[in-house]
Amino acid sequence: MNDIDMNTLPKIEVCFGPECSDKGSRELAKELEGLLGTKCIMGDCRSQCANAPLVLVAKQGVVTATVDKVLAKIKQVQEDGNHA
Ligand code: FES
Repeated sequence: MNDIDMNTLPKIEVCFGPECSDKGSRELAKELEGLLGTKCIMGDCRSQCANAPLVLVAKQGVVTATVDKVLAKIKQVQEDGNHA
């Protein structure tokens, strides 16, 4: 899928704080888990509420996150060789 290497998926943390939850982060996490077959980490608020929902891919922030933006970030992280 999108050239993503499913064997070296980076850690994906989805903010489950109040603002991000309001903006659909929990549904986004479910969708990502279904697509990627992996569990997302339930994150706490990281003061990026103005840009909710927030997702961290290998600790790199994706603001106003969508499935497509998160997948693009995963691909970028993999290309950079950072699987943290
Ligand atoms: S609630 Fe997600 S960054 Fe604050």
